[in-house]
Amino acid sequence: MRRIDDLIARMTLAEKLGQLTMTAADNAVTGPAGPGGDLEAEIAAGTLGNLLNLYGTERVHAIQAAARRSRLGIPVLIGLDVIHGHRIQFPIPLAEAGLFDPEAWRDSARSAALEAAADGLAMTFAPMLDIARDPRWGRGAEGPGEDPLLASRFAAAKVAGFQDGDLARPGALAAVAKHYCGYGAVTAGREYAATDISDRNLREVHLPPFAAAVRAGVAAVMPAFTDLGGVPMTANRAMIENVLRGEFGFDGVVVSDYTAINELIKHGVAADAVEAAALALTAGVDIDMMSDAYRGALPAALERGLVSMAMIDTAVRRVLTLKEKLGLFDDPFARGFAQSGDAQRRALARDVAARAVVMLKNDGDALPLAGKCIALIGPLADAAAQMRGPWWAAGVPEDCVTVRAGLDAAGLDIRHAPGVAIEGGDDAGIADALAALDGADAAILCLGEAAVMSGEAASRAHPHLPGLQQALADAVCEKARARGIPVITVLFSGRPLIVPELVEKSGAVLAAWFLGSEAGHALADIVTGRRSPSGRLAVTWPRALGQVPLFYAQRPGGRPENPADHFTSKYLDVPNTPLFPFGHGLSYGRFIYEDISVTPSRLGPDGEISVRVDIANTGARAAGETLFLFIHDPVASVSRPVLELKDFAKITLGPGEKGMVTFTLAAAALAFPGLDGKPLLEPGDFEILVGPCADRAQLLSRTIRLADREPV
Ligand code: GLC
Repeated sequence: MRRIDDLIARMTLAEKLGQLTMTAADNAVTGPAGPGGDLEAEIAAGTLGNLLNLYGTERVHAIQAAARRSRLGIPVLIGLDVIHGHRIQFPIPLAEAGLFDPEAWRDSARSAALEAAADGLAMTFAPMLDIARDPRWGRGAEGPGEDPLLASRFAAAKVAGFQDGDLARPGALAAVAKHYCGYGAVTAGREYAATDISDRNLREVHLPPFAAAVRAGVAAVMPAFTDLGGVPMTANRAMIENVLRGEFGFDGVVVSDYTAINELIKHGVAADAVEAAALALTAGVDIDMMSDAYRGALPAALERGLVSMAMIDTAVRRVLTLKEKLGLFDDPFARGFAQSGDAQRRALARDVAARAVVMLKNDGDALPLAGKCIALIGPLADAAAQMRGPWWAAGVPEDCVTVRAGLDAAGLDIRHAPGVAIEGGDDAGIADALAALDGADAAILCLGEAAVMSGEAASRAHPHLPGLQQALADAVCEKARARGIPVITVLFSGRPLIVPELVEKSGAVLAAWFLGSEAGHALADIVTGRRSPSGRLAVTWPRALGQVPLFYAQRPGGRPENPADHFTSKYLDVPNTPLFPFGHGLSYGRFIYEDISVTPSRLGPDGEISVRVDIANTGARAAGETLFLFIHDPVASVSRPVLELKDFAKITLGPGEKGMVTFTLAAAALAFPGLDGKPLLEPGDFEILVGPCADRAQLLSRTIRLADREPV
């Protein structure tokens, strides 16, 4: 730390504020156009310390050389949104979460980090940990779904993968947990809108993944654009200083979102950039991304006594400490190394993509394909650029394997017809699509959204099939039925689309989300039966938009649904149940949950239970199964959700094989935030439930009793 103390003592105000500034270069566009300017000159002058959206060894090393020429020679921190891959793209996080496999999540992050560090990067603005329960919001695509336990496990795995245990390693990236906090609860699913979240919801749903990221040692945190009950997160001292740093013990860097400091003026909490900069620094925001408010307005804020030099030094110290941990002072040219490994990276991307595919339906065993002659129809069948999904970092379309290319490579006889575009009103191609069905053994419909219809600034008020795709599907399904051939619908989207009619008419439905560079090979592996589908839903799939927000962990209310009683919680026109529940996903096996045992049936506050489940694969094919462990606390001092996920596990069984899965659950896992927001462990009965998804009808359960002291 002596180096840092010595530097701070020598730094001018302009040099300090430069270290608190992050400006965008031009390798990616991830926000409103910036001020432009000669970045290299600013860096050589010592008035700019951090960049985003720049990669490539030559460019990065030129930037670091410019920093070396500055008076103090402080190296530059360079970040990019490596959300699900750098050049080789993995499936979008909403898809990858559905693997329910922390090892895979870590491995894909490690692989992407190596590729990004080889391109000179030292930071990724990931993992995104926003809990999303509204398909109108586009950014659910970037996150781990609706459940805080799943998101917490995802957070820990991603931080471990990106940061590689020691940030000084050349292949390590500083991870940034974002967007702190509650962004996914935007009003009406509308992007950047206000959020109003109860303290309970904040504690139980939105904060846990960030606490998990901090426990995992995340290097940085990015506050959300949004407000929380009227206090913008970028100015939210209570949430940043008291909760994140104080309660969670976070000691890293807080980097604002893109122009978020200046946006405090539009939020209506700052009259000008001086007040905005002062609010953000006071709240604990260390780096100003793209507002240029710190460089431009903190000198005046100092003059007015709105901030102190000590506050500025504290922020500078955090930034320089991160640069030191990254090894940038020791060797700013260590990142930007030559690396091979593309073949292994593609193999991993193909494996993760195949495991991310969720088979939602498979009536009459439409899959795996029985014949070789396939009518491949729809605007997503041969759409390389779309396979990347939102946030593609350095990924390029030509690196992506389309469905058409994947099925071709698998030796199928393909008749391809797009039918209609993703959007637009031209139906002239439907005739050709219907003609492709002649002589085909099956039809594969590739439908859904364009990559940019989810992700940032991509809320949709009608999250249905865009354009004339439903008309195409109706015509294809009608003719296929007349010809007696199955229709397999493959849905590409960054959200659960509201498509009940399409699901009804299709023989099989695969949720393919956006699978990344190996999409075509992964889907070919699944539809040909080379691999069994094993992906599960990380979000509840609604039947109707009117059900939203729809998630499994709801509290029962005082009049829970009872079809026999008019005066109970339900709609007149739609069942309460989702189209597909959280955790749903079929395989080519047939898994039967035969028995559950829970021991001991009584435990004290320091005890733990062992939950054993006997399971069999009665199907004709080997397959993998994910089992979910839920609890329900039927009587407590606070109304508890009807189900709460507490663990998940996996097993692979051959045809006809039986197996056993054991969970261990500590009594502490039965706690919930009490009325004071602190963890509360209340004696009483608890249901322990295990099964394939958040559908109580499919769960085996036992009841245990938690005593207020250890049983003798
Ligand atoms: C964007 C996003 C954020 C991203 C940042 C830098 O606006 O909100 O997730 O990391 O800007 O690209």
